[in-house]
Amino acid sequence: MRPYDIILKKRNGETLNKEEIEYMVMGYVNKDIPDYQMSAFLMAIFFKHLNNEERAILTEIMAKSGDMLDLSKIEGKKVDKHSTGGVGDKTTLVVAPIVASLGVPVAKMSGRALGHTGGTIDKLESIPGFKTSLTLDEFFENVNKYKIAVVGQTANLAPADKKIYALRDATATVDEVSLIASSIMSKKLAGGADAFVLDVKVGSGAFMKDIDSARELANAMVGIAKSHNKEAVAVLTNMDEPLGFFAGNSLEVLEAIETLKGNGDKKFVELCLTLSAWMCYLAGKDSYEKCYKLAYDSLNNGDALNKFKEFIIAQGGNPDVVQKPKDILPISNNFVEFKANKDGYISKINTEKVGVACNYLGAGRVKKEDKIDHSVGLEFLKKIGDKVSKGETIVKLYISENSDVESALNLLNDAYTIGDSDVQKLDIILDIV
Ligand code: URA
Repeated sequence: MRPYDIILKKRNGETLNKEEIEYMVMGYVNKDIPDYQMSAFLMAIFFKHLNNEERAILTEIMAKSGDMLDLSKIEGKKVDKHSTGGVGDKTTLVVAPIVASLGVPVAKMSGRALGHTGGTIDKLESIPGFKTSLTLDEFFENVNKYKIAVVGQTANLAPADKKIYALRDATATVDEVSLIASSIMSKKLAGGADAFVLDVKVGSGAFMKDIDSARELANAMVGIAKSHNKEAVAVLTNMDEPLGFFAGNSLEVLEAIETLKGNGDKKFVELCLTLSAWMCYLAGKDSYEKCYKLAYDSLNNGDALNKFKEFIIAQGGNPDVVQKPKDILPISNNFVEFKANKDGYISKINTEKVGVACNYLGAGRVKKEDKIDHSVGLEFLKKIGDKVSKGETIVKLYISENSDVESALNLLNDAYTIGDSDVQKLDIILDIV
């Protein structure tokens, strides 16, 4: 076998077999295949795509290139939730305790912020004392005892994807559905869950800017899961505006706690209940409708809040954060405001720019080594469809001495469009695949 022949075969739009895909992927991981041939191979896939079977093979090979977690020490069916990334996406902080409170195990390995999107692990680290790294045995023990543990990724999951992703990033081959779906699902398969709920974001703050490409990605991911005999549901959700009222680490934990106390943004609550219901349904708890009702009850009768407190204690965090979040969380007291420059209605938001503005304040990372400032972030006082008067605050910026406030304000100015006429508010749930 020669890399040249495999590249040519894909370039000509032919279907590759398992040996050929494995030869390219593992050859690249083992440094037998150089960057330039792997780049050409990825570009051939970018233009000619992969069929369902090729996607499933690529996913499996990347998953098996590293550790394959065995979650069998955890009792019950394990359902993982994955979000393709957005701005203000703190759903895990609400969904995990809801689902765990209903007796369904949540064994979650989460990521950190990178690019314009945030990461659950950074958010949880705003809680003083909270430990995001546990040994595997501690992780299993916590899930068995409390039904919930959320940790950073320590296992060596899908190293082939890591290496190939870095090359895709440098060769303009990231945004191809087969490659994205295989990349995400290789890490999910290696993570060892039995089933997956995939929150596929759509819109200006998401990878997929329109519903058709999001649906294609969702179908590809669900198809890959099914071809590995794992159940999966994809929920297509709106990212044409930030999720909820806040973005930034401590601020999102504050919002999650308020949501668990019954004071959440309506659309954010709907998203959390929908994802929780699908997780419980896939875990075999009951019908989707009954699971939704159970999730609703848990959120409204305090069970989910109590579970959240138990979870914080189990991972070493200060439990007072639940009663007095504003006293315990590091939230900046310094702020500036982004105000409307005319009367009208918020008609459009470039949400990716909003995410980058949040990073300028120090809430995220440009490089992996960058340090996060947990105290800074954005509060969204006006969303799409809201009426504003000239001089009214649209976004409140929580800042610190290291924040680049001017760049953040300039970006917000670019990101928000104020139109003259009323526009419809956005639905949060767009489709289920
Ligand atoms: N996230 C991933 O993990 N991989 C991709 O290819 C795109 C987004």
